[in-house]
Amino acid sequence: MALVPDGVQAMVAHGCDVLVEQGAGSGSGIDDDAYRDSGASLVDLDAVRAAELVVSVSDLSAGAGAAGSPANFVGVFDPLWMPQRAQRHAAEGICAFSMDLVPRITRAQTMDVLSSMGTIAGYEAVLLAASRLPQMFPLMMTAAGTLAPARVLVLGAGVAGLQAIATARRLGAVVEGYDVRPAALEQIRSMGARAVELDLSEAGADTASVEDSGGYARAQSTDVAGRQQELLAPYVAASDVVITTAAIPGRASPLLLTAEMVDAMALGSVVIDLASERGGNCAVSQSDVEVDRGGVTVLAPTDLVSRCARHASQMFSRNLVAFLRHLAPDGEIDLRDDEILEAMLVTRDGAVVHPGVAEALGGSEAIGEG
Ligand code: NAI
Repeated sequence: MALVPDGVQAMVAHGCDVLVEQGAGSGSGIDDDAYRDSGASLVDLDAVRAAELVVSVSDLSAGAGAAGSPANFVGVFDPLWMPQRAQRHAAEGICAFSMDLVPRITRAQTMDVLSSMGTIAGYEAVLLAASRLPQMFPLMMTAAGTLAPARVLVLGAGVAGLQAIATARRLGAVVEGYDVRPAALEQIRSMGARAVELDLSEAGADTASVEDSGGYARAQSTDVAGRQQELLAPYVAASDVVITTAAIPGRASPLLLTAEMVDAMALGSVVIDLASERGGNCAVSQSDVEVDRGGVTVLAPTDLVSRCARHASQMFSRNLVAFLRHLAPDGEIDLRDDEILEAMLVTRDGAVVHPGVAEALGGSEAIGEG
C-alpha cells in the first residue's frame, strides 16, 4: 500500500481528503476499518482514479480496467528503463512523478523508496536462500558432529546487498561481499563480511570509470566485465549461496555469473538473482521461474518486497508522505524550482520533461513494454 493508516492520518492533518480503494490493504494486513479510523473515505477504484492526485506503489496501469486519468500521479514506474510508460502518461496529460528517481542527497533521504525497498529485498533474498539450501546457515557443534557454516557470497553491495550481508551474518553464515565501487568494500567490512577485492586495472578499469559523480556504478567495458567474471569464478565455486544485486541506473544489469560459473558450484547450491527485471546478473536466471541448473537452484523472484508487505507499505508510506509534503508544502501542489522535484518529475503539460527519460525514448537500449 502506498499509504498505511498512519500516512493517511498525516495527509489528513496536512489538509487533504484521502480516498482509499476498498479492500486494497488486505494483502498488507490492513483492513478497511483501520483506514476509516485514520480519516480516509473507502471508495471503488474508479473514484480513486478520478482524484486530483493518485498515489501508487507501482504504475497507474496497475489499475487497468478502471476509467479515467488523474491530473497528477506519484508512483514507481521505472521510467528510465520503461520510458514508454512515461510516454503514455504524457499522452494522457498526467503530471507524473516516479519515486524511484529520488536523488540520493541528504535532503531527500526521508523520501528514498529505493533504499526502503532494497532493504527488504536484501533481507528476503537471504531468507529465501536459507529456506532452499539443504543445510543450515550457522556453524553447529552437536553430539552428531560439527556442521560447517554456509558460505554466502553477495555480489553488488548497495543497499540491498549490504542488507543481505547483514542478514546472512545474523543467521551465522560466513559471508563475502563484492562490489565494483571501491567505497563499498569498506561498507562490506563494516557489516562483518570479507570484502572480495579484484584487480581490474589490467583490463582498463580505474576509479573514475567504475563510479559516476552521483556515487552510482557505471557500466563496465566488455574487457572489464570479462575479467571480473574470470576473477569472481573461484569465489562463486566455493560458495553455497550467491546473491546478486548489481544494478546500474537506467541500464541493463551487468552479467556477473555466467552459466559456466553456475555449473562449477556444488550440487544443492542456491543462486538468488535480484536484478532479473533489467536482464539479470546471472546468465541462467529467469524472472519468477525456478531454474534447476545441474542441481544448482537458480531463483530470480520479482516479488520479494511484496512478501514483506506490511513493512514495505510502512516504509513506502513514510517516504511518500515526506515527498507529498515537499510537493505541496501548503496543501496545494507547488511545482517550483527545486532539485528534488526536478529529479522526480517525469511528465508535465503533455510532454516527457525528464531529460534522462526523454533520452531513453530516443535511444535504442531501453526495452519497453511494447
Ligand atoms: P543499485 O541498486 O543501483 O546497485 C546495486 C549495487 O550494484 C551498487 O552498489 C553498484 O555499485 C553495484 N554494481 C553495479 N555494477 C556492478 C558490477 N559490475 N559488479 C559489482 N557490483 C556492481 O545501488 P543502490 O543500492 O541504489 O545504491 C547506489 C548508490 O547510492 C550507492 O553508492 C549508495 O551508497 C548510495 N546511496 C546513497 C544514499 C543517500 O545518500 N541518501 C541512500 C542510499 C544509497
